Amino acid sequence: MLQRWSTKKSRLPLVGLLFMLALVVTFMVLYNQCSIHHTNREQDLLETSTLTSSVHPNLPPRNNLEVLDRFSQCNSTNEYSGKKIGWFDHDTSGQGSADFVAAAAPKEEDNICDVFSGKWVFDNSSSYPLHKGSDCPYMCDQLACEKYGRPDLEYQHWRWQPHPPCNLKRWNATEMWEMLRGKRMMFVGDSLNRNQWVSMVCLLQSIIPRDKQSMSTNAHITIFKAEDYNATVEFLWAPFLVESNSDDPVYRKLDERIIRPDSVLKHASKWQHADILIFNTYLWWRRRPVKIQWSSKEKGSCEEVNGAEGMEMAMNAWAHWIFNNIDPNTKRVFFVTMSPTHIRSGDWNPGSEGNCYGEKKPIEEESYWGSGSDIPTMRMVERVLRRLGPKVSVLNITQLSEYRKDGHSSVYRKFWEPLSDESLKNPASYADCNHWCLPGVPDVWNQLLFHFL
Ligand SMILES: *[C@@H]1O[C@H](CO)[C@@H](O)[C@H](O)[C@H]1NC(C)=O
Ligand SMILES: *[C@@H]1O[C@H](CO)[C@@H](O)[C@H](O)[C@H]1NC(C)=O
Ligand SMILES: *[C@@H]1O[C@H](CO)[C@@H](O)[C@H](O)[C@H]1NC(C)=O
Ligand SMILES: *[C@@H]1O[C@H](CO)[C@@H](O)[C@H](O)[C@H]1NC(C)=O
Ligand SMILES: *[C@@H]1O[C@H](CO)[C@@H](O)[C@H](O)[C@H]1NC(C)=O
Repeated sequence: MLQRWSTKKSRLPLVGLLFMLALVVTFMVLYNQCSIHHTNREQDLLETSTLTSSVHPNLPPRNNLEVLDRFSQCNSTNEYSGKKIGWFDHDTSGQGSADFVAAAAPKEEDNICDVFSGKWVFDNSSSYPLHKGSDCPYMCDQLACEKYGRPDLEYQHWRWQPHPPCNLKRWNATEMWEMLRGKRMMFVGDSLNRNQWVSMVCLLQSIIPRDKQSMSTNAHITIFKAEDYNATVEFLWAPFLVESNSDDPVYRKLDERIIRPDSVLKHASKWQHADILIFNTYLWWRRRPVKIQWSSKEKGSCEEVNGAEGMEMAMNAWAHWIFNNIDPNTKRVFFVTMSPTHIRSGDWNPGSEGNCYGEKKPIEEESYWGSGSDIPTMRMVERVLRRLGPKVSVLNITQLSEYRKDGHSSVYRKFWEPLSDESLKNPASYADCNHWCLPGVPDVWNQLLFHFL
């Protein structure tokens, strides 16, 4: 690759040099991510093609088996044709839907306790935080706030307390491992989901002897394994849930986002064997419009939709798969609602112009909701999940995480690109108000997962 660039360099020395620099930087960015994977395209193709015919006869035929990858492009982009992912279409009447509504009625215990509603309580007892970041060999530098010099450590000591009389089940790693015995648990989604996965691995690894644990990668999946429990805790990078050109966990800095909303199969072939699945998707849809390339259309022919429309299509495609493939008696599926960002301090401190940088305390105002959590998206997710009834449990982390403006990585993380002097003078300009410090907020998301398992 570098060789190819060097021929360009001789023609346009400066541009070439900058290009190479960018390339090296990009490479470093990617190389330093929490996980590095090698991809095996042929394997992907194989898995996709067999599944297309056996598991999903009702999806449209694909006129080519090529998967989207980082080289995929749109050579023509039209307006959205209005085509929908009708995952109910195969139901002959409203009959089927009526069943879902009945099945979706909340269980009695849910009526008694809403553990997602409550407040943060400062708790500096010895049991908090639930793990020590520095003891965890799998911690990632994007999340290691203490290591990167965060001076205030109170953010590690907040405990989530549901409103009385409800309580969250006490975290117990041994008990969690017992539930995982002989099972595969897989997190599927974007870097926020990986944030939660790293938290889970760190919460769990401490009680496993070093020589009985391992971390490995297999195509797009990163796998933590505990030998004695014959159990794994895995992460699959799939930021849009459906097939996209950003599915390579290493090369994903692309200008154009292309998705294939009628194809969840590329990823489903990897997640279908897991026993416990935890999905998320949100932030990647917020950035800009996305292009759609339908499986049945000619290669390179795209349509454009806004992020919200794209996300709804992807959620429907995903729901279609869940509906057809999940038996809640043998598999558990969780969906994690949007992880809020705190990029506008005006939301909680009217008139101010900062972001999460420098925030040291949670928001106390009950039901606080900032601009980082899109309400229409929440409603859409709710609609889709309701139709899936007991097949999916919701981890509704949005409200409780909204309070935690103090919990983000901010400037206390590794930054892959060098920071200019100008940036350094204004730390808020490069603060990361998306990801969360560990130990921290995602530990509670996992505590909730533990609570519902
Ligand atoms: C816990 O917090 C209280 C109040 O902030 C403080 O007085 C006390 O010293 C802290 N204890 C420990 C062990 O940090
Ligand atoms: C954790 O769970 C295990 C197994 O159920 C139990 O033996 C142990 O006492 C629990 N630990 C705590 C601190 O509750
Ligand atoms: C380990 O777990 C897998 C499922 O993840 C199962 O197929 C296999 O039989 C288990 N092995 C043992 C030795 O229990
Ligand atoms: C679009 O690109 C594909 C290959 O990427 C090519 O086969 C096709 O002919 C192109 N169509 C147009 C209209 O340029
Ligand atoms: C999550 O909780 C919020 C309130 O905090 C609620 O508005 C929303 O409907 C819930 N989402 C789902 C999917 O249940």
